[in-house]
Amino acid sequence: LVLMFWGGQAFLTHKIKYGGFFKVVIERTTIVIWSNNMSIWEKSNWRSKPRVQMPDYTNQEILNSVEKQLSAYPPLVFAGEARNLKEKLAYASKGEAFLLQGGDCAESFEQFSADSIRDTFKVMLQMAMVLTFGAKVPVVKVGRMAGQFAKPRSAPTEVQNGKELPSYRGDIINELAFTEKARIPNAKKMLQAYTQAAATLNLIRAFSSGGYADVNQVHSWTLGFTEGEKAVQYREMAERIKDALDFMKAAGLEGKSSYELRTVDFYTSHESLLLEYEEALTRLDSTSGQWLAGSGHMIWIGDRTRQPDGAHVEFARGVLNPIGLKCGPTTTEDDLKVLLSKLNPNNEPGKLTLIARFGVGSVGDHLPRLIKVVEQEGADVVWCCDAMHGNTIKSSSGYKTRPFESVLREVREFFEIHKAEGTIPGGVHFEMTGQDVTECTGGVRAVTDENLSDRYHTACDPRLNASQSLELAFLVADELVARRTAAQVTGAA
Ligand code: PEP
Ligand code: CO
Repeated sequence: LVLMFWGGQAFLTHKIKYGGFFKVVIERTTIVIWSNNMSIWEKSNWRSKPRVQMPDYTNQEILNSVEKQLSAYPPLVFAGEARNLKEKLAYASKGEAFLLQGGDCAESFEQFSADSIRDTFKVMLQMAMVLTFGAKVPVVKVGRMAGQFAKPRSAPTEVQNGKELPSYRGDIINELAFTEKARIPNAKKMLQAYTQAAATLNLIRAFSSGGYADVNQVHSWTLGFTEGEKAVQYREMAERIKDALDFMKAAGLEGKSSYELRTVDFYTSHESLLLEYEEALTRLDSTSGQWLAGSGHMIWIGDRTRQPDGAHVEFARGVLNPIGLKCGPTTTEDDLKVLLSKLNPNNEPGKLTLIARFGVGSVGDHLPRLIKVVEQEGADVVWCCDAMHGNTIKSSSGYKTRPFESVLREVREFFEIHKAEGTIPGGVHFEMTGQDVTECTGGVRAVTDENLSDRYHTACDPRLNASQSLELAFLVADELVARRTAAQVTGAA
């Protein structure tokens, strides 16, 4: 048996007896470098760990057959794309790029349409443009799209008019309708989720490279109903961008950069909650010998499923994709320390994004203690602010909502703390839609408690509408400009 290296790959040669002769067989192999804190990872190892927030399917036969089918389907993303995203996030961890992550709380089978995908894509492009123009940093665009179907819930059951039923857990698991039948987990829904994710990603890819995202279209990304002060500000900015583009064209400077100007890189992400689905779409990347979660470019671990010895961490630690980790008020310093080493043992830049979701008024209580752990460990992370999940309240009209003012203030607190700690605010994470919904109160075109019922369409948590999203983008751009100006002053001193 001989081990050979050639062209960066390892090969094993061995002799086998073949009809009285010996035949030399050469096989490509993977070398695993072993270290003390590593154990061999397999995509099904999570099954022996404690799991929370996952359904108990009653029909094992259907579950097995769905898993088998999904395992034979093509992955939705390619390993090279996940690696590219990781590289871009590495820049965000250094303050040389900025992550914009956003989309539905829960994608829905019923509301699946080209228009809703296009409108969310449009608002994200607009927000990215505002950030790039203001802050002069590349924006890494990551949608909560094409796979964001499974939901963790605070309570296992829901009571309506004295009747108690299992909670709705996202369209990939059960149905929103309040009937016994609708709430039974059905594994076949994974197949529909896969199909919807594939079609969504297909449209996103078409928009990204087919001309829709061409920066020359910067004017056309506006949505009719976003009128207001920020819409005017957006149009003025678009005019200045258009001027610069016209100038480049006239001066013959467009040539080489023309591909970059006409396309965008847009990535997908979702919470890696339903591990049967995730495992079935996990594939071995033949170039690197590493495992890829083929369900999306980036996956994250939710605030309710981040137990260091639990099933979700076990799954996420083995894949090459960039990983997000939600950090909430109950994240302890000890847990974070373990999670940093489990999820990014080689301290690879861009691999781990810590998504802080503390709630307005609480960022100061929690972010500094977690920043301290990251700094002590010398961990390379992207700090991202989810200003949604700590700010959910019940409105007087009974709807679950989020005051726009709280979202905005949590973003400000996040920037303030990073400034005080001398660390880098690397991104923001929002639940938002391009549709003209009334789910979060406030904003320039003020949505009131009474308005909530007008267009409240979310399948789960309340989302920012297009005009609230744009308003937030301007705020974040201001914060980034202030940060850059402060850095320049310090640099010059
Ligand atoms: C979510 O992102 O939709 C979510 C449930 O978040 P968290 O895990 O932070 O509560
Ligand atoms: Co949510």
